[in-house]
Amino acid sequence: MKTYRRKFLKRAGYTTLSSLLMMGCFQKEKEKDNHSMDAAMANYKNINTSSPLRQLAATKGKLYGTAISSEFLQKEPDYAKLIARECSIVTPNGELKWNATEPQPGNFTFELADAIADFCQKHNIALHGHTLFWHIGNPDWVSYPPTLKILERHVKGVMGHYRNSPVLKSWDIANEIIADSEQETDNPYGLRKGVKPELIRDLFLIAASVDSSKEFYLNDFAIEGATWKSAHFLKMVEYLKNSGVKIDRAGIQSHLWFSTNYPFDEKGFSNVLKRLKDLEVKPVITELDIIIDTPLPNSIQKLDRMVANSYKQYLDLCFAAGVDTVITWGLSDRHTWIRHPDWMPKKFKDNPAFHKFLRPLPFDENLQPKLARNAIAQALQQATPSVRRK
Ligand code: XIL
Repeated sequence: MKTYRRKFLKRAGYTTLSSLLMMGCFQKEKEKDNHSMDAAMANYKNINTSSPLRQLAATKGKLYGTAISSEFLQKEPDYAKLIARECSIVTPNGELKWNATEPQPGNFTFELADAIADFCQKHNIALHGHTLFWHIGNPDWVSYPPTLKILERHVKGVMGHYRNSPVLKSWDIANEIIADSEQETDNPYGLRKGVKPELIRDLFLIAASVDSSKEFYLNDFAIEGATWKSAHFLKMVEYLKNSGVKIDRAGIQSHLWFSTNYPFDEKGFSNVLKRLKDLEVKPVITELDIIIDTPLPNSIQKLDRMVANSYKQYLDLCFAAGVDTVITWGLSDRHTWIRHPDWMPKKFKDNPAFHKFLRPLPFDENLQPKLARNAIAQALQQATPSVRRK
């Protein structure tokens, strides 16, 4: 966990560093941004703020949802009510990870995940299975990578349990298999050390032998632009397609860490989306949250405006490329993973006074809608309709 956190936050640090370098050239841009931003914000006020996001999404043949936790579902009825109102798809935060579903070899446990599935059935919400293969969230008895035999038993046990589920429609078959940098791989596909492309191919084949009725995703982060990681992610998608395995969608996690609002590799991201279209693998936004950390704005109001504007600009790009599913990694700042000490960026961890600026999600800690929620609503209202999702 520590390594991953350090890597993940180092990437954030990199973003911050690159932003500091860019900040000078963005100063002018920022002033322009503020004007365009204020204008953009003014527009947000004239949108349909009463319709649930799931309804605005449905009118365009899309799904909107969030990561969900069985604990808070059970303990916080207000949170459960908001999710049921706003969301048409949910991803369990941890309940379908290996340490939750097969804590001991061959012994499967699904109570917590089934509680989420029951909630989904009650509220007509799709359930996204996350995840069958990851380097984190595994019990101590599982090596990374696991042997194919151990992996096969896990996939058959977990996917088999949800084969006839009326709500579980898709799986992150594999999550974050691309290394964080060239120094951390031992193969031409950029896979994490010890992971061979044939193992991922066989994983997808085993999944298809269990239940090919679901949509199969390959999910990763830091691929929202022209990066070493996105190049290798696309290479791996191509390998899987050429191997003839069933891979339906690419999960683009979208943990976006901006500075000065929006110095974003728009061209690089558009090229990633175009490449996926050429490969006939549909993009899905699977874990969207937006942090602005350098420079920290001088007020919460300004921060919220910058975050909202970034949501709108990012989703406009996604919807223009035909994205039909957007999942934010949480609905309310109350439960964002980024406020947890294990995942909080160093800058915030070292300065408790900054914690109040960790506001990456559409609703605040009191479950009140923020400008980010209006920005998502406006992006949905302005989106080109998708061919109605299955
Ligand atoms: C995170 C959860 O939100 C945390 O509660 C947990 O401690 C660690 O995992 N990418 C992923 C998600 O694919 O599974 C991670 O979720 C966030 C990064």
